[in-house]
Formats: sequence, structure tokens, C-alpha cells
Amino acid sequence: MNSAPDAAPVVRRVGRFRARWLGAALSGLALVLAVTSLPSGPARAASQPPASASESLPVPPQADPMAELGRQLFFDESLSEPAGLSCSGCHDPARAFSGDNGSGLGVALGSRPGQIGFRKAPTLKYLATAPAFTIEQKRRKRVPRGGMFWDGRVDTLEQQAEKPFFSPHEMNLSGPRDLADRVAAAPYADAFRGQFGADVFDDPDRVVAAVTRAIGAFERSPVFQPFTSKFDAVLRGEAEFTPAEDRGYKWFTIAQKGNCHECHVLDVDSNDPRDALFTDFRYHALGVPRNSALPHTAKADYFDLGLCEPLRERGDVENPDEFCGWFKVPTLRNVELTGPYMHNGRFRTLREAVAFYATRDTDPDLWFPPGAKFDDLPAAMHGNVDLKTRPYHRKPGKRPALDDAEVDDIVAFLKTLTDGYDAASPGEASARN
Ligand code: HEC
Ligand code: HEC
Repeated sequence: MNSAPDAAPVVRRVGRFRARWLGAALSGLALVLAVTSLPSGPARAASQPPASASESLPVPPQADPMAELGRQLFFDESLSEPAGLSCSGCHDPARAFSGDNGSGLGVALGSRPGQIGFRKAPTLKYLATAPAFTIEQKRRKRVPRGGMFWDGRVDTLEQQAEKPFFSPHEMNLSGPRDLADRVAAAPYADAFRGQFGADVFDDPDRVVAAVTRAIGAFERSPVFQPFTSKFDAVLRGEAEFTPAEDRGYKWFTIAQKGNCHECHVLDVDSNDPRDALFTDFRYHALGVPRNSALPHTAKADYFDLGLCEPLRERGDVENPDEFCGWFKVPTLRNVELTGPYMHNGRFRTLREAVAFYATRDTDPDLWFPPGAKFDDLPAAMHGNVDLKTRPYHRKPGKRPALDDAEVDDIVAFLKTLTDGYDAASPGEASARN
């Protein structure tokens, strides 16, 4: 249950493309987990959840019993105080498992009225192969990579899944005993015992470990990495881009234009969707403008410093302040559904998020109050913001790397990354663009 090894190299050895893709959907890791996590005794008949409760959830029942338990835990609204907020409240399947629990702000509302979080709840899709957090050395530069959350502060899906239950501005449970009592009273309690042992509820810490293991299995299931977008269909030769999408793809991948693929990585020479996760799991400081809609920003000295905060806490990383303002590169798969955008939810529309890259440096007044560029970071940390990487490497008044039409094209391309594309009736997808 520790760091998630990258399953890619194993699966890559399978020669034929279709087999590789199927392998991707299942993920070598999910298989290993499923096999090793079967109960030691024979599964009891009682471990099957009542069909009605289980089938009414927005994601269909899972064949793997561990993932199936994870599914039920994920949607269980009794696991918050007060009851009513499940993981899916902030990670809604209809929004590619992102969301805000109805806050209408860039960040989510917790289980209690008025408890507003600090960051945007990202999509949970395509995290199964996210590596554990490390700082790599590349040409004398420190390159942080991997981990969960916008700041990489935990390594695995399992470690992550423990946090929201006990966070006061999220699900607000009082501790492991509280969680254990609620799971013991849930309709799937027998299935839980079947999976983890008849006496599992005697030890709350065991329950927490079991809950996170089941949720991790669910999050690694094909539901979260289906590779069913139009982009994937194009890779597999089953669909074609419209002219606008095709241009957008070019601007996205040409270094002199968007250069987006430098961070939102896709291997242009591969036709394996798994080589196109649209993130390298690294970190950068983009200098996103302050989101004054967030209650916390009413305090002038409130700043979300991102990556340097957990590094300061760890204490074993030299000069962590160099990493203040850095946030994890999110996947762009399903980005059409996951707004508002950036760690602070500052941009309401996808077009705004893309346009920001084009004109942040050529016309900063479009984005920041006059004379206050990078207003969401303390002045002493403005030097951390990346000024060199394309496309934001141009001086004020210069022509942006992308004009308005090219920004539109990139948006059209990004909309091809939405899962659930139906090659047989593509009308809806192309009408959207
Ligand atoms: C109140 C809203 C809320 C609830 C409820 C919630 N989350 Fe989240 N989730 C967030 C926010 C906000 C973040 C980003 C926090 C950060 O980066 O500091 C996040 C991040 C995550 C991440 C990391 C994603 C990434 O790209 O690194 C995972 C995984 C996740 N949540 C799973 C869960 C699970 C599982 C549950 C239920 C046990 C859950 N969440 C409940 C709001 C919520
Ligand atoms: C140098 C690395 C880098 C490059 C180049 C880059 N991005 Fe990003 N992108 C990031 C990081 C880091 C974030 C998150 C920043 C934050 O929240 O503070 C991000 C966030 C985004 C988001 C918001 C996603 C979400 O779920 O909130 C979109 C959309 C996006 N990028 C699109 C693009 C496009 C389009 C391009 C090319 C024009 C591009 N990016 C180029 C690093 C990069």
C-alpha cells in the first residue's frame, strides 16, 4: 500500500496496440492490487451488497470486490459530520470527479455551512499511475515531481483518502472511531467484514487502513482511466479531428506556439493513449491571479504558497522557499468538465485559462490589478514565477505567442479530451466546438 509503481513499462512490452490499450484500462497495478487483496477465506455470500442500494449509484457496480467496496464508500453520505457529504460531493462523476459541493465558488463547501475550503477540488481521473513525490536532480536543477494534492504532500491514493474524512472543512469526522462506527452501520458493513475480517471493527485504525485501501482500489479501476475521449479515438484511428481541433492540437504541441505539451505531456509519436496523460506530474509557478471570490483572500496577508509548505514542514529539503508558488501540473483530460480552473479556481472558463498563457506577460493588465502582477504571491516570492518557459516568455507590448483564433483552436482541441466520446454518433461533440 506504499508508493504506486508506474505500470507503464510492464504493459508497454505487450506488443499489439489493442492489447496495450486494454492493459492500460485495467492497469497492471490494479490487477496486482485486485489479486493480492482478495479475502483470505472464501468470500461470503453476505458480502454482496443489496442490489438496489448499490445499483442506484451513478457509477455501476465493480466486478472486483475491493473496488466495489471502494465505490460504496466513495458515495456514502453518512461518512461526514453532519451527514450529507460524500467524496462524490466534491468529486462528482458528472464533472470527471471534480466539483465544489455546491459552493458556486472556485473551491468547495465542506459538510458544515460556511466551511469553505482553500483549493479547487481536482479531477480524480488518470491518477492511477501518478508517481510518489520526489525531487529529481536535472542538470543541477531540482525538479520536484509526483505525489497527491496540488502540493504533493502525500504519496499515494491510499494516504490521500484518509485526509478528507478528518478535515474540519471537508467531511469533519472526529477521528478513526467515528469513521469505524459509521462504516459498521452502513449497508455494506457485512461486505466490509467479508473483505477485511469479522473483527475489523474492533480496531478503528484497521478500519481506516481498510477504507483507504478500498477507495484506492476504486480510484485505480478503469472507471477512472477509461481512455474513451475523442482524442483517444483519433489515436486509435477511429475518428478524425475537425479542422479547428486539428489546428488546436498543433498550437498545443508546437514549441513556438502554445508549447503546452512541455508540461501537459503527450508523446506525439505514440498511438498509445497512456502516453498522453497531459501531465508530467511536475510542478511550476504560473503566477495565477488572486481569486478574490474566496473568503480567505479577504485577509491581505493570506497566500496559498503551494509546494513549499509541505517541504518546509518536512524539514529535510534545503531552501524550500524556492518552491513557493509552485503547484502540480494537472491532467487536461476532461478539462472541459472540471472548471473553474487552476488551484484557486480563478478562471471560470476554459478559454480564460488558455488565454492567460498567451497574454500574462505581453499584457498583464488584462489579468492583474495595475502594477500588481502576480498578486497572489508575496512580493518577495515573485522571483519564483516562471518567466522563461514558452509561451509566457515575451515582454510587455510584444505580440502574444497565440492570437485569439489560436486560443479558440486550443480550446476546441482540449474539448476532444472529454471521456465518453461515441465514434458512432460524433455529432454532439463536433457541434460543441
Ligand atoms: C469538501 C470537498 C472535498 C471532499 C468531501 C473530498 N475532497 Fe478530495 N479534494 C478536495 C480538494 C479541495 C482537493 C485539493 C486539495 C489540495 O490540493 O490541497 C482534493 C484532492 C483530492 C485528491 C488528490 C488529487 C490530485 O490530483 O492530487 C484525491 C485523490 C481526492 N481528493 C480524493 C478524495 C476522496 C477519496 C474523498 C472521500 C474520502 C475526497 N477526496 C473528499 C475536496 C474534497
Ligand atoms: C511550464 C509548465 C506549463 C506549461 C508550458 C503549460 N502549463 Fe498549463 N498548467 C501548468 C500548471 C503548473 C498548472 C496549475 C497551476 C496552478 O493551479 O497554479 C496548469 C494548469 C492548466 C489548466 C487548468 C487545469 C485545471 O484543472 O484547473 C489549463 C486549462 C492549462 N494548464 C492549459 C494549458 C495550455 C492550453 C497550455 C499551453 C498554452 C499550458 N497549459 C501550458 C503548467 C504548464
